[in-house]
Amino acid sequence: MKLLVLNGPNLNLLGTREPKIYGTMTLDALQREVAEYALELSERRAARADEGAEPDKGDGPFCQVELFFYQSNHEGILVDTIQNAQRNYQGIIYNPAAHTHYSIALRDAIAAISIPVIEVHLTDITAREPFRATSVMADVCAGRCLGKGVESYKEAVDLLVGIIDGR
Ligand code: DQA
Repeated sequence: MKLLVLNGPNLNLLGTREPKIYGTMTLDALQREVAEYALELSERRAARADEGAEPDKGDGPFCQVELFFYQSNHEGILVDTIQNAQRNYQGIIYNPAAHTHYSIALRDAIAAISIPVIEVHLTDITAREPFRATSVMADVCAGRCLGKGVESYKEAVDLLVGIIDGR
């Protein structure tokens, strides 16, 4: 299965951006770590197939989990990317960054597509400034993972794969 990992505004600056809040890992390093996790997950899935386990309902028995990464600072480009994603991917892992708190255009794009979207945040947005506690995306997403840095993305991979597998 092919999954899109989408990152919104200012996440290209990870590593140097407010390191006390977001840590020192760059977006590139984060993406490599999440890609490595998906590779390990694919190997575990292949091992289950070798053991003769029942296949999942996803897009093929124990198929590989392939991740594709994209980041943009531009709302319209992100709307286009979400609209087009359902042609190529079976799900989206999405950190909408600041758009989380106000972009109805991006919320509507998520609601308009038929593939599941998992909302991801590095930080716990419910425990920061009050304006960050509101997510206009949350109720149109299939799930959310927050507050665990890069681990939030790995948790989202597991959650999304489980949804697509029909578990
Ligand atoms: C963020 C939280 C948002 O409030 C913020 O605007 C970001 C990053 C996070 O990953 O914790 O840019 O989405």
